[in-house]
Amino acid sequence: GRRADFLVVANRLPVDLELLDDGTERWRQSPGGLVSALEPILRARNGAWIGWSGQADQDLDSFDDDGLVMHPVRLSSDEVRDYYEGFSNATLWPLYHDVVVPPVFERSWWESYVEVNQRFADAAAAAAAPGATVWVQDYQLQLVPAMLREQRPDLRIGFFLHIPFPPVELFMQLPWRKELVRGLLGADVVGFQMPGGAQNFLWLTRRLLDLEPSKAAVRVGNRPGSVSFDGRQVRVGAFPISIDAASFDKLSRRSDTLERARQIRSDVGNPHRVLLGVDRLDYTKGIDVRLRALRELLVSGRVDPESVTMIQLATPSRERVDQYKAMRRSIEQQVGRLNGEFGRVGRPIVHYLHQPVGREELVALYQAADVMVVTPLRDGMNLVCKEYVASRHDLDGVLVLSEFAGAAAELTSSLRVNPHDLDSVANALEQALTMDSAEQRERMRTARRQVMTNDVDRWARSFLDFLEPVPAAPEAAT
Ligand code: G6P
Repeated sequence: GRRADFLVVANRLPVDLELLDDGTERWRQSPGGLVSALEPILRARNGAWIGWSGQADQDLDSFDDDGLVMHPVRLSSDEVRDYYEGFSNATLWPLYHDVVVPPVFERSWWESYVEVNQRFADAAAAAAAPGATVWVQDYQLQLVPAMLREQRPDLRIGFFLHIPFPPVELFMQLPWRKELVRGLLGADVVGFQMPGGAQNFLWLTRRLLDLEPSKAAVRVGNRPGSVSFDGRQVRVGAFPISIDAASFDKLSRRSDTLERARQIRSDVGNPHRVLLGVDRLDYTKGIDVRLRALRELLVSGRVDPESVTMIQLATPSRERVDQYKAMRRSIEQQVGRLNGEFGRVGRPIVHYLHQPVGREELVALYQAADVMVVTPLRDGMNLVCKEYVASRHDLDGVLVLSEFAGAAAELTSSLRVNPHDLDSVANALEQALTMDSAEQRERMRTARRQVMTNDVDRWARSFLDFLEPVPAAPEAAT
């Protein structure tokens, strides 16, 4: 088929393959913000997406999804175990999230990671037109930039890391640290969520490879630093990602959404205050932290169980990985304990859902919530808090937000907490539960100015402006 001028390479395709009980298959749109941001660019530029279908052992042909070409990459079930669940999610994920659980270093997982990265690089090399732009996404594919450049030096290669990039001392634990840094340096632009991550990366290039970063160091957005490697300048900078804010705003104004929000509040017994948590069920998210803080407030009598209800949505994720199983057990135990102690018949304290929820129901939940609780121990950005803000055109609602989420740097009007400090979380919850309407509105107005302007489209454009510099216009004659 025709080769693409603009390629996105990510572990997952923007659509998930669903295998139904009757043996048939169906592609389901996965509701990521990344897809909605990149879709217009992909369609306008003869674009294609390379990724995994989400199912093991599937040989799938490339296909056209409404004008966008999808190239599925096959993963065997051993590779799902070693490359995806192992190296990506039991080595890199915890290591990059400040080792909140101990990372596991396992040679056979690394070998699988190398092999699978090579497969993605090969697929990209085959699909890209001469001189095309290739944008590689996230920690699962950090070797792809160098592997791709090896085969196709004609391409413009970008890399963006969606999760935090860890401090040097932590990264240094990794037995394959040099290989990963070299892999990333295959890109023309290496983007991080936060200036700190970009800085950490530049330090590593010096420490591990003896490279000399340019004096300009690292700045956010339009003035990144750079390092020269292999006779090329690799630009390194921070590009904080965002959401498709307008679509959340629009959905939150719809009358059926507002009706559903009222219904949810009445379903949970019309308490004075509804608290909400929305996360993938992941040990980095601090779901257990907020449950403990809520329990303290109830035990000490600072909060009346008749006045509050919490809804916690925990989307199933990476369920075969041990640390995820352990976190699920712990959360479910705490929910049971809270309901056992403080609930009554027909009126639990915590409504806990371990299931995926669609976009419309999600926005209705945001509308129904007085207090949004986002308490990750570490998070690259956290998009849930931005979604909440974009869904509150009415300016009501309070956001409690961990300092350890990238978003805390932008959402300075939120109640920011240290999730390692239970008192800090409990105090912020109490403050949020009792905040008057004028203060809520003032804080929400500030947050919305930030979120509604800095949307995901702006993020993508700011990254691509670096990757694909416009040739300078000839100087005007005077
Ligand atoms: C994080 C990562 C993504 C990943 C997503 C869902 O946001 O940065 O790369 O796709 O989690 O996790 P999963 O393992 O299901 O793809």
